[in-house]
Amino acid sequence: MHEIADFRSDKVARPTREMMEAMASCEWGDGLYDEGPTVRELEGLAARATGKEAALFVASGTMANQIAVHTHTKPGDTVVLDDTSHIFWTEGGTGPTLSGVQTFGLPSKRGLMRIEDVRRVFARLDVGARPTLVCTENTHNFGGGRLVPIGYLREIRSIAKAHDARVHLDGARIFNASVRSGIPVKTYAATSDSIMFCLSKGLCAPVGSMLCGDREFIGQAKRFRERIGGLLKQSAPLAAAGLVALKTMVARLRDDHANATRLAKGFRALRGLDVEPSDTNMVFVTVRTLDGDCVVNALEKRGVLTYHLGAGRLRFAVHRDVDSEDVDRAVGEFRKVLRGRGAR
Ligand SMILES: Cc1ncc(COP(=O)(O)O)c(C=O)c1O
Repeated sequence: MHEIADFRSDKVARPTREMMEAMASCEWGDGLYDEGPTVRELEGLAARATGKEAALFVASGTMANQIAVHTHTKPGDTVVLDDTSHIFWTEGGTGPTLSGVQTFGLPSKRGLMRIEDVRRVFARLDVGARPTLVCTENTHNFGGGRLVPIGYLREIRSIAKAHDARVHLDGARIFNASVRSGIPVKTYAATSDSIMFCLSKGLCAPVGSMLCGDREFIGQAKRFRERIGGLLKQSAPLAAAGLVALKTMVARLRDDHANATRLAKGFRALRGLDVEPSDTNMVFVTVRTLDGDCVVNALEKRGVLTYHLGAGRLRFAVHRDVDSEDVDRAVGEFRKVLRGRGAR
């Protein structure tokens, strides 16, 4: 049990001791022209893990997604994606402002667009603002940490291909998806031209994401990364932590999924809460009778931190720095808040 049970995001997970040691003892590049052997090793490992030709180390998942959008498109193009995807919802106007594209957010259910809507948008926009890129997301964050079916990803890919469009997979948590489904990351990555995944979040590295694709794409992505100030000069220690994340932290995501299942089960026993299905490390609930912000504040006073998405919908993200005792405590404190003891 921790003093504060922080379920706001898996981004808050701290680096491990092994990561700290690797950061202190890593091999450096020259910090000006050469990113060095540690970054190269990480990029090689990421490329192999995703089955792509090459990979690029970048500062964040948002940066990786937006570099992908820019590299796959030209100004005036349309990017098709679901209206609750991270790229559309949270990265907001970045695609339109940075790359001059129109983002076309299709309605979705738990993160999945209707296949017929995707077909229709290609048919309708065939002249003029032709879609040249479709973005998918797995696991789907605001879809409840949803494990997205491989069949769905393949269908999207085949529609895009039929229209000569590319697919970018936002796989911020693709290792969660792989551990949960048993489907290799490479198989998911094969449904897209490019994939990004985060070393931070459940894998616990302090910083960093990987953008993976073919050599030509990564070459262009690298140039754009530099133009937007994303070339990290002395990034070897961050890459060293990322290497430990990839080599040692994937299998343990199972523990996070088990704790999330335990949390969802505990919440389901509480009255006044709608609990969404929990596939991986997230549990989303909606409070029916109380104001969401008041609930968040009441839980915070009781040492349990969570994130309010609005309209009473709360996200609990499970990660290495919350354990089963924190889970039980969250359920117990939520019960008290729902009973009206401490909602104010
Ligand atoms: C699905 C998804 N994609 C991208 C990102 C962006 O990652 P970052 O916070 O590293 O920019 C997030 C962050 O939570 C995410 O959930």
